[in-house]
Amino acid sequence: MNYQSILDSIQKEISSFKNTGKVATYIPELGKVNAHKFGLHLQCVTGEHFALGDAEERFSIQSISKVISLSYALKLAGNSIWKRVDVEPSGDPFNSLVQLEYEKGIPRNPFINAGALVITDILMGHLKDPKQDFLHYVRDIANDQTITYDESVAASEMKHKFRNASLAHLMKDFGNLDHDVDDVLDFYFHQCAITMSCKQLSEAFTIFLNYPEGDHSKQARILEPILAKRINALMLTCGFYDESGEFAFRVGLPGKSGVGGGIVALHPKQYCIAVWSPPLNAKGNSELGMKVLELFTSRTGISVF
Ligand code: DON
Repeated sequence: MNYQSILDSIQKEISSFKNTGKVATYIPELGKVNAHKFGLHLQCVTGEHFALGDAEERFSIQSISKVISLSYALKLAGNSIWKRVDVEPSGDPFNSLVQLEYEKGIPRNPFINAGALVITDILMGHLKDPKQDFLHYVRDIANDQTITYDESVAASEMKHKFRNASLAHLMKDFGNLDHDVDDVLDFYFHQCAITMSCKQLSEAFTIFLNYPEGDHSKQARILEPILAKRINALMLTCGFYDESGEFAFRVGLPGKSGVGGGIVALHPKQYCIAVWSPPLNAKGNSELGMKVLELFTSRTGISVF
């Protein structure tokens, strides 16, 4: 497969793309990003890698962190987590409150905000120094010790915490949060405020690849294959909130988006790919990012379907 020529043809095609998306401003610090930034990094199982544009520039990973925190919670707490969070698509926006009330404080899945807050609470029950320990885990899976939190983004989100605080308080009332609400929010906002580049994200997500039996490489040893399988299933069905069906239909890969404009997607046996373009569509997913991934799986003919 000549990935470089396919990526070059995609870059050419998107030069005339009319982006109708908008950069997220509900976390004011995110609104400062240059809307014209664009990066892509493709990491293949063969070790080959390919890049376009601002592939090494760091951005706020936001909800992409939810996949990493789920993997860490599963490693630490195992299947007990499923008593506190479900595995069904929500069909609702990422920060919706409605289902949580009638489903008695059990979030539909770990990738909506309510679910990620429960995962955060579970991590706090297993880690001595949650923020430091989480950062070490991220650095470890990305093979990069320079990854860090953007404190100004975390503080900006804490200042505008009201919707996430509502979700957390409702779950606390239903008995589904053990820790203090503000402590849970602080740790959750820090996870979202990690900055990483497309290159670092596509490396980190290689822990979700399907490695052949007997592969003893470091990335293959981080997650048990059964956990990678389950997390990929959740990314496919829930990774894009009420646009998960659309992403599966157009792109055909498990993936996860964030309101910083990043999307990471993967083919379990072939590659991880990360794209970054800050303007978001109405569902909170990178408009150009989705288009590029659709072109990529259409032109390579490699998706999970
Ligand atoms: O909690 C929030 O609203 C943000 N920190 C994360 C939301 C997000 O990235 C949704 N993804 N598309």
